[in-house]
Amino acid sequence: MCGIVGYAGGRKAAEIIYEGLLRLEYRGYDSAGIAVLKDGKISAVKRQGRVCALGGYIKDMDGKLGIGHTRWATHGSPSDINAHPHSAGKFTIVHNGIIENYSQLKAEYFDGEKFTSETDSEVVVRLLDKFYDGDITRALFKVASLLNGSYAVAAVCTDFDGVAVIKNKSPVIIGYGNDGNFIASDAPALAGFCGEISFLKDGDCALVTRGGVSIFDSAMQGVLRERVKNSATNASLDLNGCPHYMLKEIREVPASVVNTCNAYSSAEEKLKSVVSGCDRVIIVGCGTAYNSGLIAKRYIEKFARIPAEAEIAGEFRYNRPVVTPTTAVIAVSQSGETADTLEAAKLAYSLGAKVVAVTNAPYSQLTRCAHAVVPVVAGHEICVAATKSYTGQIAALYLIAHTLAGRDIGEATQKLFKISRLCESAIETEGIDSLAHMCARSVGTYFLGRDLDYAVAVEGSLKLREISYIAGGGYPAGELKHGTLALVDENVVAVVIITDKRLADKSMNAVEQVLARGGKVAVISNIAETEKELQGRAQLIKIPDCDENLSPLVSAVAVQLLAYKTAVLLNRDPDKPRNLAKSVTVE
Ligand code: G6P
Repeated sequence: MCGIVGYAGGRKAAEIIYEGLLRLEYRGYDSAGIAVLKDGKISAVKRQGRVCALGGYIKDMDGKLGIGHTRWATHGSPSDINAHPHSAGKFTIVHNGIIENYSQLKAEYFDGEKFTSETDSEVVVRLLDKFYDGDITRALFKVASLLNGSYAVAAVCTDFDGVAVIKNKSPVIIGYGNDGNFIASDAPALAGFCGEISFLKDGDCALVTRGGVSIFDSAMQGVLRERVKNSATNASLDLNGCPHYMLKEIREVPASVVNTCNAYSSAEEKLKSVVSGCDRVIIVGCGTAYNSGLIAKRYIEKFARIPAEAEIAGEFRYNRPVVTPTTAVIAVSQSGETADTLEAAKLAYSLGAKVVAVTNAPYSQLTRCAHAVVPVVAGHEICVAATKSYTGQIAALYLIAHTLAGRDIGEATQKLFKISRLCESAIETEGIDSLAHMCARSVGTYFLGRDLDYAVAVEGSLKLREISYIAGGGYPAGELKHGTLALVDENVVAVVIITDKRLADKSMNAVEQVLARGGKVAVISNIAETEKELQGRAQLIKIPDCDENLSPLVSAVAVQLLAYKTAVLLNRDPDKPRNLAKSVTVE
């Protein structure tokens, strides 16, 4: 949520920062800005709209150090004025996060003064200017001591030949390049620029110059932060011939399943010792990660017979959860940065639960709030809507359920390998184009299913809503008659997922109930009897026959493709849906 980049080196800073911002756009894309320092003077440009709105200004921005920002508005509408950077006196800053006490700080230190923007961030730069006594680090620590909330603040100052940064909660990485050093919110910004990066901890402040990087912890003591290989490479940013990252990432679903399986053994022993004796499991997450928890609940109850529930992280943290030392709380997050999931994990930890992180980001904050970490190895996911990370999460959670059941994971792993090949063939599923046309013409599309199919219905609906803006929901098929049936008319589509032979007849009841009322129905199924029963009365999307516990991996590919194709038909940008951002680091 908001992306920041900073550079101090031997090259033209504006070009490097611009490139970095383009790669961080998934964190927010309502406005952008860059500031560079040359000969003691700061020049800045900021514009409402996407990062490319800055493109025409870059060639005139000389200077070998600077900062940039791509914004997801929290305080103040997207506009040129509210765009970052913000300046006061000798300082110019960019900020990712929320300053919760900004109005108190304004009242206390700048009573009656007129601010230029409506942002919470402007107070930070004004405070820096106010407390600056010639020592940037001291000014940053002083200002940080006054702030409540989350922040990654990068600053340039006319007195200093470098970029200064301080952080709390919002992520900051340091990049070590051949011709200069960097800061960024996330690794893809530095792909191709830096082979090595390190992660700042909360409270850290860093001074980044062309010649080196100095890091100070919250006690203002110099510290070293481990340097690790930058996993983001130019290849991970390549679209591989696809028109959008979303399609590229759906095509990477099979690899995410296989790679996640291969990595599981590195976590298994630790996980076993952490969850040993647990008699209850709560899976927490947001958005798609929560939806993978709906599947995990079913796996854990089915295989381990341990009571399990999935809870939205933002609800869990505020509803005084009942957990004990024998409760395992599994926090699922692609980014490992989502504020609600992090806080839910921290709360569970503080209440004595055993916390397990399931994440695609091995160095993320979530990994530091957990007793055990189970990796998802989906690779960098750029599209705002999660796809390959969802299937990677399902694979990891399937294996975790086996571990909780005390089973050997050998057979489960083989099943996952097999299903990954079926996911590959599901990418070629026929009929999705015509269903996408049907959905694109609808005023609403809702998804139905039972048990695991219900869990996928919830995700299918979220995917379609977030990238095509078609209203709808995902419901248990049995609930249709308790309300959703009232939606049925010729402009609304019902997508029913049927992969569970045991429940196929029951789910077919829902199909019949919609057809009987003249509604439009599509069925996603791999059951031959379902096809016979339909007799062409509803559109059928046939997906490969597979192990019924793992069918969510195959049907997920179908619903992801459906959402993608519908969005494209409607001329929506599937990679950057309106109003959304990928890493939601604020509440
Ligand atoms: C945002 C993204 C979703 C994602 C959710 C949780 O809403 O748009 O795609 O599922 O955050 O993100 P996380 O990184 O915690 O999995």
